[in-house]
Amino acid sequence: MLELNNISFRYNSSTPLLINNFSFKAEKGDIIAVRGDSGTGKTTLLNIICSVIPKVFTGDLTGSILHDNVDISKLSLPEIAPRISLLMQHPDNQLFFPTVEQELAFAPENLKVPAKDIIIRIDDVLFRLNIENLKYKETTSLSFGQKKLITLSSIITLSPNVYLLDEPFAGLSQEYINLISNEIKTQSNNGKIIFVAGHTDDILQLANKTIEMGMLNEKH
Ligand SMILES: Nc1ncnc2c1ncn2[C@@H]1O[C@H](COP(=O)(O)OP(=O)(O)OP(=O)(O)O)[C@@H](O)[C@H]1O
Ligand SMILES: [Mg+2]
Repeated sequence: MLELNNISFRYNSSTPLLINNFSFKAEKGDIIAVRGDSGTGKTTLLNIICSVIPKVFTGDLTGSILHDNVDISKLSLPEIAPRISLLMQHPDNQLFFPTVEQELAFAPENLKVPAKDIIIRIDDVLFRLNIENLKYKETTSLSFGQKKLITLSSIITLSPNVYLLDEPFAGLSQEYINLISNEIKTQSNNGKIIFVAGHTDDILQLANKTIEMGMLNEKH
């Protein structure tokens, strides 16, 4: 279970409260649509849930986030990643290695997953997303949609309990949207919690809960 308790946030004292005393509970299997126009704070909320705010980007944050009754502010980012993993809105910010295979191996290697299990995890995710042909490609040579699938794959190899997907469908063809939608449903059926941020109605069809971002800030 993931609990957000009385979260309030502003980037600095001269900017408005983007999130105003917001509380929310997510249970195993929940798919939560995080909806709102550009600038309403979807990315900000996801960054708060995985502690990138305040551990990397600063701001005035109050309230607490508990994952399975553990206060995540007490954990380091490497400790949080296997619990709560973020798919960034812009995949170029999340690709660091020359090849897809190296990219996908990095996180489980850091978690000391045995080498033979890493190979199994990589092959499994590439098979499920139907992108086995990308395994030995250079990451810089990938299309935008392929980069999204690879960054999604890289967090799936961590097998986190909570997925934070920031606009996973933006800029993708219907074929890739279907692939990612099916993967979200599979992960939900496996008891994972999945937040999906976006502007469009397609995420509502997937979700059983919705957070309307515009309603969380002080203009309302
Ligand atoms: N580091 C920062 N410092 C100050 N303000 C910021 C910072 N990052 C974002 N903001 C502001 O916070 C607001 C919310 O931004 P955020 O990126 O969370 O919105 P979003 O809903 O994800 O938008 P989009 O749909 O365009 O991705 C915007 O007004 C933005 O300018
Ligand atoms: Mg955003």
